[in-house]
Amino acid sequence: MSNKETLALDVYGTLINPHAIATRLREFLGDQANAFSQLWRTKQLEYSFRRGLMGDYQDFSVVTRDALEYANGVFSAKLSNDAKALLLADYTRLDVYDDVPAALAALRGQGRALYAFSNGAPGDLQALLSYAGIIDLLDGIISVHDVRSFKPDPKVYAHFNTPTNTRPEETRLVSSNAFDIAGAQACGWQTAWVQREKETRFDSWNPPQGRIIETLSVLTG
Ligand code: LAC
Repeated sequence: MSNKETLALDVYGTLINPHAIATRLREFLGDQANAFSQLWRTKQLEYSFRRGLMGDYQDFSVVTRDALEYANGVFSAKLSNDAKALLLADYTRLDVYDDVPAALAALRGQGRALYAFSNGAPGDLQALLSYAGIIDLLDGIISVHDVRSFKPDPKVYAHFNTPTNTRPEETRLVSSNAFDIAGAQACGWQTAWVQREKETRFDSWNPPQGRIIETLSVLTG
């Protein structure tokens, strides 16, 4: 990889593990916590796609809250308002993936330009990346909030290139989210799809054109 390349690092699912919330969910849902977490995340993304298409932007924390309500209904979990507030507060203190801090430190040591690039609202991203202890390893945080839409709207990838003063062909999205990789490659970016689990599939109708990696540490090579 060229040193001129700027890395746009997706946050939820790539730097930070959204399913770390299952630890808290276990208090309320016992052994249904993982399934609840999966549905919550799936619905959160669906709501972001729908809001993007409908031109009905809301802060990602609203999308997350609405998806929590949906999962609460499906699982008949009867979460109290306090429990929901606790879960949403925990959503800004999620665990960082093990490979991330050392990989970012090494990339920074190589002089690479590193930006977080996410659907999350700026304040939530600040909290999340500070809690994870990686905020100082980044050159900045670019949020879709600035253009009031969500990935994979081409508008949000185009937006990234403005404040970072970069060109699409010299920008590489690093993301575990297939729809994010597809969105970036449609905009002429380089990509690295992080396949965090072997069983995770990419879409057959729009395969990844860039790198496929298992951990961020290989980006240093
Ligand atoms: C993000 C979503 C894709 O962090 O999880 O942008």
